Amino acid sequence: MQKFTTVAALREAVSKEKAQGKSVGLVPTMGALHDGHLSLVRKALEQNDIVVVSVFVNPIQFNNKEDLAKYPRTVEADCEKLESAGATMVLIPSVEEMYPEPVKDVYHFGPLEEVMEGPQRPGHFSGVAVVVRRLFDIVEPNRAYFGEKDYQQLAIIRNLIEQIHYPIEIVPCPIVRADDGLALSSRNMRLSPAARAIAPTIYETLQQAAEMAEYEDVDEVREWVMGTLGSFHEVNTEQCPNGLKFEPEYFEIVNARTLQPIENWDDAGDDGAVGCIAVWLDGVRLIDIVKF
Ligand code: PAF
Repeated sequence: MQKFTTVAALREAVSKEKAQGKSVGLVPTMGALHDGHLSLVRKALEQNDIVVVSVFVNPIQFNNKEDLAKYPRTVEADCEKLESAGATMVLIPSVEEMYPEPVKDVYHFGPLEEVMEGPQRPGHFSGVAVVVRRLFDIVEPNRAYFGEKDYQQLAIIRNLIEQIHYPIEIVPCPIVRADDGLALSSRNMRLSPAARAIAPTIYETLQQAAEMAEYEDVDEVREWVMGTLGSFHEVNTEQCPNGLKFEPEYFEIVNARTLQPIENWDDAGDDGAVGCIAVWLDGVRLIDIVKF
């Protein structure tokens, strides 16, 4: 695996491969890699001759300084994982390398960014779009890979491709879960052992919601999920003497393509419905989805 810290050197290496007719898959990441990321790399390897991974904690997509500072950085371990997964090249640029000039670009995504993560994280999706477009410009991949856990991000990136007309196929990849059901996330490593132990309750609640959806209205299911997680109180534990609780920020049941909230199951039509949740647990913000 070749490692690059400059855009120019990576660009040159990629263009040599392209000159030989090779197809290129891109996996953008912010590092702190886990099996979910590696599943994107594996999928990209199946579909392309070479796979480029970027590891860059993108400051302009964080609207909370503390969150940016706390974001785990594990570059050496990341490189080892990427090497064993078979990635061809990794780009690990500094902030100055990625953004030599102050960023002026702003992207808008209309109703797609007015729901769920949008109001909670002003400027976040524009920041994601800026970095993803830069990576597209640098690598000019045939395909780019994104996880379905960040479901709204995936819809935003599809929309970005429509706005900029790049001939890049966006490949969605399913969530990878721990054995107990918790969706893998770089943020999980910030959970205390006690919080990690109860975190799978989120997945279990969503699974039960999927069962309820067979016979209950959209509103009932939505309220049940918010109420069930909101009223969960773990008994006191050594690690957390005051007990632990979930603080659900939102649970929305939306059209899987437009991401607009639905009132009746039939409203989703052929697109299908998906439930998206953001929950605080022990100072860590976790997200997950369930397909109905
Ligand atoms: O999903 C992520 O890790 C990031 O938002 C991405 C797509 C790598 C852009 O920084």
